[in-house]
Amino acid sequence: MHPELQPAKILRYETPAAMSAAFPEPALHYEQGGVILLGNCGIGFDEEFVSTLQFPPAWKKIGTANDITVPPLVYRDGKYYRTQNPLCRAIPDDRILLKVYSELLRIELGFKLLVSNVLPSYRNVQWQNCTFRLTQTREEQAHLDSFDGGAALPEHMHVPRLKLFLNIDAEPRVWKVGPTLPDLLRHSEGRLGSPLPTDLNMLCACINASGLLAEVPMQRVEIPPRGVIFANGATVLHQVVYGNRMVCLEGFLPRACLQLSSLCEWDQVVPWIRAAGYTAAN
Ligand SMILES: [Fe+2]
Repeated sequence: MHPELQPAKILRYETPAAMSAAFPEPALHYEQGGVILLGNCGIGFDEEFVSTLQFPPAWKKIGTANDITVPPLVYRDGKYYRTQNPLCRAIPDDRILLKVYSELLRIELGFKLLVSNVLPSYRNVQWQNCTFRLTQTREEQAHLDSFDGGAALPEHMHVPRLKLFLNIDAEPRVWKVGPTLPDLLRHSEGRLGSPLPTDLNMLCACINASGLLAEVPMQRVEIPPRGVIFANGATVLHQVVYGNRMVCLEGFLPRACLQLSSLCEWDQVVPWIRAAGYTAAN
């Protein structure tokens, strides 16, 4: 890798008020592959209780897509019935079931409200999965996010991605942040081979498998309890080093809500490949 290759820049704000006062700076920064660290999300939840919760390894990425925040009890014909919420199968005691559900739900809703507060241009975001990762993570590999084994993604997913992570543990979560995808391409000195795939998901998988990431400079960053990191995992290299409890919120952004000077990452793949001296596959 070329010696000029540097990790992506990290912008820091202490509070949601400081972040919203700085708008549109955080939106511009995020849309250009930058990382944002918000020190304190200001979301109310029972931290002492939540820091005792632990999900089994099979629930590593369980989330709203699995109905984890649908009401666990419904009232019908004078009786309460348990629902399809997976917590119902895991927690026999009604009182604890409702306590866990209420904490997860307030975190989900508080997290979504936070985004409309600090990034008001994203108020039309289409929320995707909100995952409650209440399992330990240690020394993950540095990677760019790639799904479905690096397959081409369908057209409706070729939109700007919003991705943020809230540390709900009592201990700091430790990440390492690496360079942006265009910087990685530019400084890879032709070692990725050619032609390169023009589907972002395929390109990320190709870079992850290249073996080049081991020699890339990474910057350590501590996300304090209640801190949030905003990072588009497909366009900035990242790695979780240490963490126990985190909530990840994902959304798709309509192109129209980007800042005027920003472009969707999917529309930039071909220019990025060519600017780095590679050939784009058809
Ligand atoms: Fe990731």
